[in-house]
Amino acid sequence: MNTSRKDFLKTISAGTSISALSLLTPIDSLFRKDLKETFSSRKLPAKKDYSLDSNIKYLNHGSTGTIPKIVLEAHQDYLKLCETNPWFYMWSGEWNDPIEKVRAKAAQYINAEIDEVSFPHNTTEVFNVLALGLELNKEDEVLFCNFSHAGASIPFLMHSKNLGYSVKTFDIPHDDLSSITKQDILALYEENITSKTRLIVIPHLDNTFGIRQPVKEITSLARSKGVEFVALDTAQTMGMIPIDVKDLDVDVIGTSAHKWIQAPKSISIAYFSKRIQDQINPMFVTWGQARWKDSARKFEDYGTRNLAQVLTLGHALDFQMSIDQRASKEKLQLLWRLSKELAMKNPNTVWRSPANWELSGSLFVIELKNRIPSEFAKAAFENNGYVFRPFDAYSTIRVSPNITTTEEEIEGLFRLV
Ligand SMILES: Cc1ncc(COP(=O)(O)O)c(C=O)c1O
Repeated sequence: MNTSRKDFLKTISAGTSISALSLLTPIDSLFRKDLKETFSSRKLPAKKDYSLDSNIKYLNHGSTGTIPKIVLEAHQDYLKLCETNPWFYMWSGEWNDPIEKVRAKAAQYINAEIDEVSFPHNTTEVFNVLALGLELNKEDEVLFCNFSHAGASIPFLMHSKNLGYSVKTFDIPHDDLSSITKQDILALYEENITSKTRLIVIPHLDNTFGIRQPVKEITSLARSKGVEFVALDTAQTMGMIPIDVKDLDVDVIGTSAHKWIQAPKSISIAYFSKRIQDQINPMFVTWGQARWKDSARKFEDYGTRNLAQVLTLGHALDFQMSIDQRASKEKLQLLWRLSKELAMKNPNTVWRSPANWELSGSLFVIELKNRIPSEFAKAAFENNGYVFRPFDAYSTIRVSPNITTTEEEIEGLFRLV
């Protein structure tokens, strides 16, 4: 434990006065120093920066990411501080400014304005806000493909019934994704957008086959055909690849920061462009609603919540922003290429995700020719410590490594098949 953190904890346990404690809460001064120490001679974090059991070979970052120790410690510190005066750290406004710092950091991270960022609990919440609150009428249609996650599709399928708008879905064929091109995906959107399409929801990288969709081109096509809004599900991309909301020209982004941003569970980042904000009625409404009128803050839950998590999100973002982006991309591509080569060479497996990195990512699927995926996953976990996601319905396993995954871990997996 470094000196600043030790002092911080000592101060808490000594029951220092409120004003002295408040001096210790700003996140930048305390935390940047720790990160400099962490990364002084390395471009990428290492396994020792995380708490994973050394027997575990973790290839399931797409389900639940790993939290760096330094972020976990920050979370624990905030939680401890909260309990020194529970009311104070929830309702006194003491953490309003630090939370706004986190908002500014999140805005910088995705190239948004501060007023366009809100902190939902997860992706599912963002699409519920949209499906319930966007002013859509009977003539309006919401469009998405078969690979939209339940958290981004069911809210529209359910709420459209009560609210009267329609939902149209279309299939991206997945029998042979190895040869799929950007043009194939764009042609499907082109075919399915109609004069009624008011909102398109795109899974940036779906969780079932790992197709990374060409968002910028889809948005440009949608705009040219008069579609007013585009929402992007970045649950599987934010933190894995850079996200620039202005460049992608989207109106809403939902993500789950516990995956690739490596933040605690149940805190996340959402983006609502200025132009869509006025057309969405907030899902959570409570006291003081008018205060957040002209800002994405109005979509947040202002009941009692875990503010320690919101502050910790700032630390997770600091951690992400300290990683060398080029080195990170190279590492993820290396693991992806290795996995693809091994899957293609192995007589018992078939690579089932797109074969081009630009349409793929660090979440990909491999068909098992001779094994039942769930049985294989159970045995690989029990005997060898591997953690990944099986999909029996498609005879596939989903592998989602992150930058601390080793080549040996990938090679070891293929030796088990
Ligand atoms: C692409 C995608 N969208 C949405 C979700 C839902 O995320 P959450 O359960 O955190 O809301 C997931 C979860 O795995 C996902 O992979």
